[in-house]
Amino acid sequence: MRADLRAEIGIIGGSGFYSFFADPVRVEVDTPFGPPSAPVTLGEVAGRRVAFLPRHGERHQHAPHLVNYRANLWALKALGVATVLAPCAVGSLQPTLPPGTFVVPDQVVDRTHRPGHTVWETEGGVVHVPFADPYCARTRAAFLAAADEATPLTDGGTLVVINGPRFSSRAESQWHAANGWSVVGMTGMPEASVARELAMCFATVACVTDNDAGLEGEAGVTAADVKAVFAGNIERLKGLLARTVSGAPSGECACHHALDGLPLPFPPPAVGD
Ligand code: ADE
Repeated sequence: MRADLRAEIGIIGGSGFYSFFADPVRVEVDTPFGPPSAPVTLGEVAGRRVAFLPRHGERHQHAPHLVNYRANLWALKALGVATVLAPCAVGSLQPTLPPGTFVVPDQVVDRTHRPGHTVWETEGGVVHVPFADPYCARTRAAFLAAADEATPLTDGGTLVVINGPRFSSRAESQWHAANGWSVVGMTGMPEASVARELAMCFATVACVTDNDAGLEGEAGVTAADVKAVFAGNIERLKGLLARTVSGAPSGECACHHALDGLPLPFPPPAVGD
């Protein structure tokens, strides 16, 4: 496979990340699950080969419950990606995490009900991957090592993922907060579990854009609030990602062995598939 069509690190995020690359190559990738959210853009960041996919599409046309998570991760894996960095926007469930905070969660609660939530849906082999620790420890550590004075990171916390596209009711939000969960978003799952199902390292940095409806005194969230606060934090987030790419470990990780010994009904993508 052409070297410029390969990458070791994948970024799934908003379209603001296109500007990462000085000399990008675009590639259309087909997968057994159909096309990913957009053509993949490949280039170099901090001397590392990086593949970028805008999660919601080039025109932000794919709502969170309609994103083809399987195709996105399959496409990145087929380009050689071993580690995925997946920033996302979230609402806060705790007063200690105000808008503008960046959180590197260590746990996830999946409250989505989406078709296409597993790669291993076909008859012919039952594939139960481990998911007790949903995020790759060394990729989380790479994020945390990339923090600086302007971009402090909260280490750990639980991301609850709702189906969307609507925001939570006040009662749902109060229930999420009462469980001790930290932040709420719409895209974290099944992205994290599909990455594990494809034996890829995966971690997320969650950018708090709003106080969710359950926080005392909050009027409730609007999409306009989320968009404006995310846009105001994009440069800090891009800096953090560039530093994370630069420091991200390479080589073998336990995540790459998630499928060892499991009865796969078909092979995962080999590079170039
Ligand atoms: N994304 C950003 N803010 C959110 C919220 N409050 N709930 C769900 N997803 C979000």
